[in-house]
Amino acid sequence: MAPQAYVQPIVASTSVFKTDLFNGKVLFCTGGGSGICKGMTEAMMRHGANATIVGRKLDRLQQSAKELSAKTGRECLPAQADVRNPASLKEAVAKTIEKFGRIDFVICGAAGNFLAPISGVSENAFKTVMEIDTIGTYNTIKATIAHVRAAKGAYIHVSATLHYSGTPYQVHVSAAKAGVDALSAVLAVEEGPHGVRSNVIAPGPIAGTEGMDRLSPKTHDERFNSAYPVGRMGDVKDIENATVFLFSDAAAYITGQVLPVDGGTEHLRHQFLPYPQAVLEPEKVKHMIKGKL
Ligand SMILES: NC(=O)c1ccc[n+]([C@@H]2O[C@H](COP(=O)([O-])OP(=O)(O)OC[C@H]3O[C@@H](n4cnc5c(N)ncnc54)[C@H](OP(=O)(O)O)[C@@H]3O)[C@@H](O)[C@H]2O)c1
Repeated sequence: MAPQAYVQPIVASTSVFKTDLFNGKVLFCTGGGSGICKGMTEAMMRHGANATIVGRKLDRLQQSAKELSAKTGRECLPAQADVRNPASLKEAVAKTIEKFGRIDFVICGAAGNFLAPISGVSENAFKTVMEIDTIGTYNTIKATIAHVRAAKGAYIHVSATLHYSGTPYQVHVSAAKAGVDALSAVLAVEEGPHGVRSNVIAPGPIAGTEGMDRLSPKTHDERFNSAYPVGRMGDVKDIENATVFLFSDAAAYITGQVLPVDGGTEHLRHQFLPYPQAVLEPEKVKHMIKGKL
């Protein structure tokens, strides 16, 4: 029988980190009404934080806030805002301060994506993704920085790994996320002396998310899963765990960094041999290789 690849477990943050880590702290999360950022918010709330979630669709935000509070016993404020509009973000920040009195942590996660080649993506569509992802991140930083400084808090920006190489059909997001990574680095350097940290989480493909469903119909394909050094696609919990760690005091010396949470796929961009067969069953690929295995 062919050897099987080891599959890393999916673990809950509460099985690793203390549940009172963020008692008394407040999170402000753009994109927190759905998907990965909703999971990141839930994890922060499970460890004691109250949270504001920001997005354009008020119905969904209200529903998500209710669910998050019911699951965690913490307070969640749904705040409608478009990250492209600085005034609406400032209003969401003001509501947060009115309700919770502080902002310790910010997740810049709001984003848009779709598949289109350079020749097919319209100038307007390209601009929209830049406006949501990159300028939206800048607007979020501007609206929150005074409060995060006062709290000696931290930022996490949700980026991606696809711009580390030329990913076809992703020119708009690649450009936008490269901008997000750059913003975070400058924020870390400028605000470090004021007590603020800033890092990027770069998720690989995360199963069961809206973003992934839009981009790939193969989400649950077993062959696709096996093409990961850790034996499976990413889960929202993997991003949650990285979030709790990076916001915790255990990451006090980590700032200005990009943390790919992608099961190691960043290092698999150039595969000349079938993967993972090439490492599990080297005999089968021997005929493809001139050197000695
Ligand atoms: N899914 C993946 O596999 C994957 C991989 C790599 C990186 N990422 C990144 O992870 C983050 C979350 O992705 P996801 O897949 O979980 O997608 P998602 O569920 O579609 O999340 C996007 C969120 O952003 C909000 N948003 C979009 N435009 C906005 C705007 N103009 N103003 C305010 N909020 C806005 C949306 O809420 P409204 O529609 O209500 O505004 C939604 O809650 C994104 O930054 C994405 O680029 C995802």
